Amino acid sequence: MSKVTVVGAGNVGATCANVLAVNEVADQIVLIDIKQGFSEGKAMDIMQTAQLMGFDSVVTGVTNDYAATAGSDVVVVTSGLPRKPGMTREELIGVNAGIVKSVVESALKYSPDAKFVIVSNPMDPMAYLTVKSLGLPRNRVIGMGGALDSSRLKYFLSQAIGCNANEVEGLVIGGHGDTTMIPLTRLATYKGIPVSNFLSAEKLEEVAKATMVGGATLTGLLGTSAWMAPGAATSYLVESIIKDQKKMIVCGTFLEGEYGMNDILIGVPVIIGKDGIEKVIELDLNDDEKAKLAASEAAVRKTNSILHDMNLI
Ligand code: 2OP
Repeated sequence: MSKVTVVGAGNVGATCANVLAVNEVADQIVLIDIKQGFSEGKAMDIMQTAQLMGFDSVVTGVTNDYAATAGSDVVVVTSGLPRKPGMTREELIGVNAGIVKSVVESALKYSPDAKFVIVSNPMDPMAYLTVKSLGLPRNRVIGMGGALDSSRLKYFLSQAIGCNANEVEGLVIGGHGDTTMIPLTRLATYKGIPVSNFLSAEKLEEVAKATMVGGATLTGLLGTSAWMAPGAATSYLVESIIKDQKKMIVCGTFLEGEYGMNDILIGVPVIIGKDGIEKVIELDLNDDEKAKLAASEAAVRKTNSILHDMNLI
C-alpha cells in the first residue's frame, strides 16, 4: 500500500494530487490544508472524476490533521504563498520559510521515514532549510524545480523546432530562479541529435531566455503562479520514488562535494528511486556553464543567508 501526502490544497497541491490520482501513482493520496474544508472539497472534486477517468487511487482531504498523513512514503510540501506578477520567488522567503519548517516538522512526526519533495518557493532555500533544520539525510529531501524547468525547456525547444516535445531531451540545472537557472541547450537533443543541428545559436539563446522566465511569464498571464506544469512535474518526481523508476531528473539536491560545492542545495541531475536521491550525476560542464553555475551558487547562498538571519537554521 503506497501513500503520498500533499501539504497545501491550493492550485499546485490540488493539481499534483489530481495527477497523482489519474496516473495511479499511489494507492492513497492525502491532501491537507489549514483552510477549513478546503482539502476535503478538493479531494471530493477529484474523487468525483474517478469513474470518468478510470482510476482506483483514493484521495482524501483533511484540515490540519497530520495524524491522517501517518505512514506516508512521500510528503509533498506546497504550502505558503505563490508569487504575484512582478515578484521574484526569492521575495517569498520571509513568509514561506516559517510555514515550510513547521509543516515539515508536523509531517515528520507521523511519517518518520518519508521522502520530502519541496515545491514551496523559493524552492532551493526551502529544501535547504528542510535538510538543515531537521537534520534529514540528503537523499530524503528533494527540490522539485529542475523537473519543471527542464520540462519548460523541452516545451520551448519543441516549439522552436516544430516537433513533438516527447522527442526532446534537455536539462536545466542551477537554482529555480529567473536569473539562477541554467538551461543546458548545448546538451539538449531532438531524437538523440544535438538541437544545434536544427536551431541557430540566436534561436537557442531565445529558447534559454524563455525557459528562465517561464514561471514569470505565466504569473504575468495568470495573475498568480502557474500550477499545471508544477503539479505534473511534482507527480512525475513522486512516481519515480514510489515505483522505484530510477529516472534521471534534475532536482534541488544538497551537495556534498559534487560540482565542487558543499552546504548548498541546488539543481543538478540525480537518479530518483525508492530511496529518493540515489545518485548525483556530475556533468562535464564547459567554462561558460561553469561560470553560470558559480553565479547561480552565489545567488542561492545569498538567499540561504536570510534563513540564518531569521534564526531558522
Ligand atoms: C513556477 O516556476 C511554481 O515556481 C513555480 O511556476
